[in-house]
Amino acid sequence: MDKLIVTGGEKLKGKVKVSGSKNAALPILMSSLLNGKTSVFNNVPDVWDVDTTLRLIRKIGGQAERKEDGSVVIDTEEVNHLEAPYELVKTMRASVLALGPLLARFNQAKVSLPGGCAIGDRPVDQHLKGMKELGAEIKIEHGYIKARAPRRLKGARIVFDVPTVGGTENVLMAAVLADGISVMQNCAREPEISDLANALNAMGAKISGIGTSELVIEGVSELNEVTYDVIPDRIVSGTLIVAAAITGGDVILEGVRTDHMTSTMDKLAEMGVLMEEVNGGLRIRRPGALIPTDITTGPYPGFPTDMQAQIMALMSVTDGQSVVNEKIFENRFMHVSELQRMGANIQLKGHAAFIKGVDKLSATKVMATDLRASACLVLAGLVAEGTTEISRIYHLDRGYERLGAQLRSLGANIERVSE
Ligand code: EPU
Repeated sequence: MDKLIVTGGEKLKGKVKVSGSKNAALPILMSSLLNGKTSVFNNVPDVWDVDTTLRLIRKIGGQAERKEDGSVVIDTEEVNHLEAPYELVKTMRASVLALGPLLARFNQAKVSLPGGCAIGDRPVDQHLKGMKELGAEIKIEHGYIKARAPRRLKGARIVFDVPTVGGTENVLMAAVLADGISVMQNCAREPEISDLANALNAMGAKISGIGTSELVIEGVSELNEVTYDVIPDRIVSGTLIVAAAITGGDVILEGVRTDHMTSTMDKLAEMGVLMEEVNGGLRIRRPGALIPTDITTGPYPGFPTDMQAQIMALMSVTDGQSVVNEKIFENRFMHVSELQRMGANIQLKGHAAFIKGVDKLSATKVMATDLRASACLVLAGLVAEGTTEISRIYHLDRGYERLGAQLRSLGANIERVSE
């Protein structure tokens, strides 16, 4: 197992390019199960969760290959084994997104029920509710979701109880091949969902209302081959902005979609981070002291839960008290005890964290517990006094394309070593 060794104190400087979005790429790769043909996806990040998705596609009979130019080519004509096994789902919950496409194309699918998760309880009841509305019979047996549609799925009205990213994506993928019109209401509106919908339309699906909470889908009987570019990762972008800001550096990010990041950028601007569009990217500086602020995570366009841990690292060294309210995954505070071990002054009360900034964090050995918590510890390490050792960084590899190397290219003192 590898660990990251970070010695704090270097101001980041230079240019860096943002990778494609993991959370857009995963459902888009799964959507290739619908067309039974060849799909080419560009700007797919080279991260473990993408590898797991490609493994799943191969396991059920498809061909999936990553090319040197960052594209992924998938052929799902020969898919014949309609099961996402526990071994894959337990390593990546997003494997459950195979359910909608398999069910829509083959009228049946068997997908392991995802188990517990480090960031909290993550049910899939809304995915199943949507599939049932489309006419599927669902049984839970021996830890597996077994779904069958006696005939082709049928268009329906689906009103989600809560806006769910994965639920919206899964049901959307099922509805595109259903017979007739589906109306999905109270959908999540994350840019990654719009990217999936655009990719599906590029295959010949008929989805309207993209970017709103009501999606209308006119079912089609088959989908075509496609070539599609995945959007840049707004969470990787946000993480790199915090890296520049926490070190007081001067960094240009290339390939950022600032229109996907309004709530994150507004909060960082409130904290004193200067972000300006310049020729070729987004320039980030932090001219003065950091200013405390409060955030409440929420569904898009609210503040993303996936940026909560990273902004908390910044708040830890901001003079004054900041408050974080976590409303999406209420136990997503595993990074707090590790930050406290680095000298951060944070009190947890229920679903809120009260952060009193300290002058200096002090380096120690810490452990990554999930993807965004790992990023938070790397950010803290960049300014801590001394050398921070972060173990279990396989969590980081799930969603960041060589973050350590990227930060090193900007002048960070960071090294990856085998334990
Ligand atoms: N929920 C239900 N029932 C469901 C589904 C969700 O009650 O059937 C609840 C959840 O418990 C949660 C809320 O709805 O309280 C939102 O969950 P959502 O379904 O939107 O999350 P997800 O699809 O499981 C995706 C991202 C997460 C990100 C969340 C929220 C992917 C692959 N994952 O998860 O990303 O935190 O949306 O934005 O897109 C990460 O990248 O680090 C990560 C965890």
